[in-house]
Amino acid sequence: MGQGLAGATFGDGKGVPLVLVHGFPLDGRMWERQAGALAAKVRVLVPDLRGFGRSPLPRGPHSIEDHARDLAACMDAHGAPKGVICGFSMGGYVALAFAALFPWRVAGLVLADTRAAADSASAKEVRSATARRVLAEGMTFLADDMLFKLLSERTLREGVDLSRRVWSMMVDQRREGVAAALLAMRDRPSRLDLLRRITCPTLVAVGSQDAVTPPIEAEGLAGLIPGASYVEIPGAGHLACMEEPERFNGAVLDLLARVQEQRP
Ligand code: MLT
Repeated sequence: MGQGLAGATFGDGKGVPLVLVHGFPLDGRMWERQAGALAAKVRVLVPDLRGFGRSPLPRGPHSIEDHARDLAACMDAHGAPKGVICGFSMGGYVALAFAALFPWRVAGLVLADTRAAADSASAKEVRSATARRVLAEGMTFLADDMLFKLLSERTLREGVDLSRRVWSMMVDQRREGVAAALLAMRDRPSRLDLLRRITCPTLVAVGSQDAVTPPIEAEGLAGLIPGASYVEIPGAGHLACMEEPERFNGAVLDLLARVQEQRP
């Protein structure tokens, strides 16, 4: 059963929305350079996932599929039977779970700096240890560590404002929500089998300097999805949509045009 999510909408309230699903350990504010800019072309829905931002904390352990069910309930609440689902990293895991559970509700898919494979055994151990440490110590150590994974060296050097905003967004998150999401990511299944069954227009986008989900992995992901387009964003790291919003938004607009062409 889906849990209620806080969600903001942008644009005129009509048509199939673009649903922007944030990554870890962030919230819907990470889409600040997409929501307003893309709302001129399409209705945009920006939820905070369970346990993040303004959404309620989880009532117990949950799965990535539960995040996808929450998303479906949030779309229902906004009168959106279908959406173009755009997920960044952890949001991409949720987007793929949504596509597995509700394929008829996906008009298009944007997989941004994400992967379809499950965690390795060692990655699972790191998730469990990090969840324990977050619960014991809070968010600061994780924000310090993650900042270097999310942003490219160039952004860290030249984009002090952006670095500060991203770090603050991470520190703002509640430890219980973050720990629960770590365990949900740890236990998520591989979605590799789903990829060849995806039939909607799909974009795979990645920062050329993404060290978390590197271009070689993203290109492989695109290669497994029939007809998917692949865009590499020069100079950006993992958080390419915040680091290079114009290029990212341009790729999303191209995808939206493909979705539009397919509609009767
Ligand atoms: C994210 O950016 O959402 C995370 O890096 C995803 C992950 O830890 O697998």
